[in-house]
Amino acid sequence: MNAIRFLLGQKLIELESVSPTLTVLNYLRYEQKKIGTKEGCAEGDCGACTVGIAELKDGQLHYRAVNACIMFLVTLDGKQLLTVEDLKTADGNFHPVQQSMVDCHASQCGFCTPGFVMSGFAEFQNRQCSPKNRLKTMSDEYQTTQLTQIFAGNLCRCTGYGPIIEAGKSWLEQAENTPPQDRACIVAVLKAIEPLESKQQRSDEQTYIQPSSVSELTEVLAQNPNATLLAGGTDVGLWVTKQHKILNQVIYLGQIEALKQIECSSNRLEIGAAVTYSEAMPILIQHFPMMEEYLYRHSSTQIRNSGTIVGNIANGSPIGDMPPALIALNAQITLTSQTGQRIILLENYFISYGQQDRRPDEFIEKVSIPLLGKSSALFKVYKISKRFEQDISSVSAAFYIELDDTQHIQTARLCYGGMAGTPLRATLTEQTLIGQLWTEPTLTDAALLLAEDFSPLSDFRASKEYRLTIAMNLLKKFFIQSQDQSPPTQLSITGDVTCA
Ligand SMILES: Cc1cc2nc3c(=O)[nH]c(=O)nc-3n(C[C@H](O)[C@H](O)[C@H](O)COP(=O)(O)OP(=O)(O)OC[C@H]3O[C@@H](n4cnc5c(N)ncnc54)[C@H](O)[C@@H]3O)c2cc1C
Ligand code: FES
Ligand code: FES
Repeated sequence: MNAIRFLLGQKLIELESVSPTLTVLNYLRYEQKKIGTKEGCAEGDCGACTVGIAELKDGQLHYRAVNACIMFLVTLDGKQLLTVEDLKTADGNFHPVQQSMVDCHASQCGFCTPGFVMSGFAEFQNRQCSPKNRLKTMSDEYQTTQLTQIFAGNLCRCTGYGPIIEAGKSWLEQAENTPPQDRACIVAVLKAIEPLESKQQRSDEQTYIQPSSVSELTEVLAQNPNATLLAGGTDVGLWVTKQHKILNQVIYLGQIEALKQIECSSNRLEIGAAVTYSEAMPILIQHFPMMEEYLYRHSSTQIRNSGTIVGNIANGSPIGDMPPALIALNAQITLTSQTGQRIILLENYFISYGQQDRRPDEFIEKVSIPLLGKSSALFKVYKISKRFEQDISSVSAAFYIELDDTQHIQTARLCYGGMAGTPLRATLTEQTLIGQLWTEPTLTDAALLLAEDFSPLSDFRASKEYRLTIAMNLLKKFFIQSQDQSPPTQLSITGDVTCA
């Protein structure tokens, strides 16, 4: 049985031969003539194409908002796709999120509205499902913070965000006080169409392979070393929609249960290749609370609901946000192939611009992060970009310092993004810091050495002078902030935290 099966609203769809790079948006608009979902940018930035996905997690329905424009249809196997056309209740009324948009006059031209509604809808549905996340009362400020996060991936050019946030406030608490409708029927259908076996399809010149286990993945990768590995597709999707690349062979990692695991032991946190940011964030924040703002500044809710942490490593980008943070924490990655596993330090994965230490028959199975054991360990991450959310970094920095009993520096790992062709440690600066007293003058002097560690480039994001100045200032800021003992501001929205 190779058909891709999913629910479109309440309707079961089976596709025998579909292009692995047909986007959900094009399928909806051109094949299903469902034009409520709009196309603005076709690159995951504006949110006009936001749709809802419902899937089973531990037997319960979990909802997420995603960008249909860069999501490939084949990845919906075993899930339910919900669009703005599906939200009306059985008695013909609007969904509370839609009704609040009407009541608060939160729509003018209406182009962005389905996207805002679907972002709100996914959040509403999850809040109903998750009583332990319920809050008795939410302050106005807290609601605004939450809604700003929920809608960070939705742009509106004409209404203004005031009425949209007001609309959000009217459904946010309502969601937590409204019991969910009976979802047993959808759960039963999704269980029946769960893709437990591997699948393979051909359409014209394209092949789609959906392994269901790590051993099958290593086997098909050995047979097809030139295939494109697809995880969340938030990079790969743009190769298709913006660069118009034809991907002849696509191997999807997202149906392999073993790659969806997050394992937490007493000293390490391991995140599998198919774990999204949204899934990893609660536990990352639990162990590294100083990363919370950094993580919420990564892209938008929709992108974090699809994109994976490992995909951010694998793409080899010099401006990916996760590698500097993970390198400063001394993370390792596991590279797996039919011939076995290699465990390497993440920093050694990045060889030079566009070149990584990965053989074509290997994939990254997981990233393994040491927990902050020592109370003397100082760790902080910074992102410099033009916008707060939904923006690529000009410079990012992550600093890890261990001090001995006399406040002398024992260990220093200072890693930057956007300063070289790969994420890179400031090795000369680090060496100079070792053995020195942890004081402001030490850091101010050491920061000057960054000019010897890095020769950054100028591009449209930032000039080389700006990058270098910022890099120095961030190191000084790290020292100043290390003197502040107050707990980090909590931004967390939904999500459960589980850890042994
Ligand atoms: C609107 C928008 C905003 C964004 N904002 C940010 C941001 O703020 N910060 C940031 O760092 N990035 C950002 N990104 C980039 C992107 O979201 C991240 O790089 C994301 O982590 C990629 O993960 P993915 O699962 O979507 O990868 P995919 O697109 O599926 O894959 C990315 C690359 O990695 C390869 N790959 C994936 N998994 C594996 C594996 N297990 N083993 C080997 N190779 C693999 C793929 O073949 C491909 O080359 C943004 C993207 C968009 C569209
Ligand atoms: S069309 Fe803009 S995010 Fe999809
Ligand atoms: S109502 Fe016109 S873009 Fe938002």
